[in-house]
Amino acid sequence: MTMQEKKIPKEVRDEKLWSGRFNEPVAELVKRFTASVEFDKRLALVDIQGSLAHAQMLAACSIINTQDLRDIQRGMAQIENEILLGEFNWQLDLEDVHLNIEKRLTTLVGDAGKRLHTGRSRNDQVATDIRLYLRQAIDEINLHIKSLQTALLELAEQHTHTIMPGFTHLQVAQPVSFAHHLMAYFEMLKRDAQRLMDCRVRVNRLPLGAAALAGTSYPINRELVAELLGFDGVCENSLDAVSDRDFAIEFTACAALIMVHLSRLSEELILWMNPRFGFIDIADRFCTGSSIMPQKKNPDVPELVRGKTGRVQGNLVALLTLMKGQPLAYNKDNQEDKEPLFDTVDTLTMTLRIYADMMGGITVKPEAMRNAALQGYATATDLADYLVKKGLPFRDAHEAVALAVRHAEQRACDLSDLKLDELQQFSKLIAEDIYAVLTLEGSLASRNHIGGTAPNQVEAAIARARKYLSIVIE
Ligand code: ARG
Repeated sequence: MTMQEKKIPKEVRDEKLWSGRFNEPVAELVKRFTASVEFDKRLALVDIQGSLAHAQMLAACSIINTQDLRDIQRGMAQIENEILLGEFNWQLDLEDVHLNIEKRLTTLVGDAGKRLHTGRSRNDQVATDIRLYLRQAIDEINLHIKSLQTALLELAEQHTHTIMPGFTHLQVAQPVSFAHHLMAYFEMLKRDAQRLMDCRVRVNRLPLGAAALAGTSYPINRELVAELLGFDGVCENSLDAVSDRDFAIEFTACAALIMVHLSRLSEELILWMNPRFGFIDIADRFCTGSSIMPQKKNPDVPELVRGKTGRVQGNLVALLTLMKGQPLAYNKDNQEDKEPLFDTVDTLTMTLRIYADMMGGITVKPEAMRNAALQGYATATDLADYLVKKGLPFRDAHEAVALAVRHAEQRACDLSDLKLDELQQFSKLIAEDIYAVLTLEGSLASRNHIGGTAPNQVEAAIARARKYLSIVIE
């Protein structure tokens, strides 16, 4: 009997799969501190998927025999079943998802279970799991983005002629259509989806085979594992394979940016729902009341989206900070990548799902939008452009219109309410045809080029967007 066996009873040594060289059991508090099973058990199914591919490769390369492979497959099928039924007995003492599953496999199938970890380390195993998990998450998130884009499109289609003030500095600037405003968010989401697809390219590489850090001495076939798991290729440096979390950072950056876009839209919804604007109403199911003020209907969902954006940004900073001091290769620090990543996926997924539904339930109030556009001299630029087209240099036109606006302000009326002779005080170039230019409709119609707010241009943009969605959804 060795010293070690005398000190620690066999049950204690057995409980950890790596405790062979230790002289005393790990302290209770340390076990809790180092365990990740509480949160990484959500990787269970991809962990099994990765293990099955690894085992299949080991058998194909004659590193284990086919009976071992069959035993592993049988055991894993049962474990998967137990997990899906919620009957799997997760043990904190077994530290993480990987050791929990491996231990159960060994209990079920004996030595074959003990052979599974040949040529592999938890370091390349966990990196593989996260990539499999994230690849699936990206695909699901992209579908949610498309649903939100569809909801935006459907709303935009009804409002190519609904005129609202466009703002700069949150002051009335120029009239735009509500559809045009909504389509700006469509564009943002389109870039967001493209960014995610680009990130997916780098997620979709196989770390397995890197083993602990240096590779393995067994005659493995990494390409086969990559193929079995649907990866586009293998990570080409073993040290990088086990330590790299760029893909998680990239994904979280993409997610943070999506949240920023939705946070901006939220801010607008909140403003628009305020009675001072009164542009829209949000369906009751997305709002709450106040326990003290009976008149209140609060836009809780957009407010929370704005709030949760901070949390996703925090997750990005957490991941960047997690990595910045780490020497190669794997360090236990990396275990901290999961909670920010999972939280990002959950927050983003929920936000997108609820947003698609909420945009479908918005009531638009075109009259209020129109009145607001009529109030802020939104067509002043159109008057200046009119003068320029009649030969006045733009700066002089700008000055003339500024004086006209001041005059209208003193009279508390709109530019279009001024009589022709009044307008002509500011420039002799102004003629009767100015009234067509000063209307909101005239202003919109004149911005008739790709990207402009003219209704026919926005209709064309919507048609392009429809086509884009039909291609990416397939
Ligand atoms: N639970 C660990 C993690 O999430 C798995 C890898 C542990 N590797 C190790 N050598 N301790 O990172």
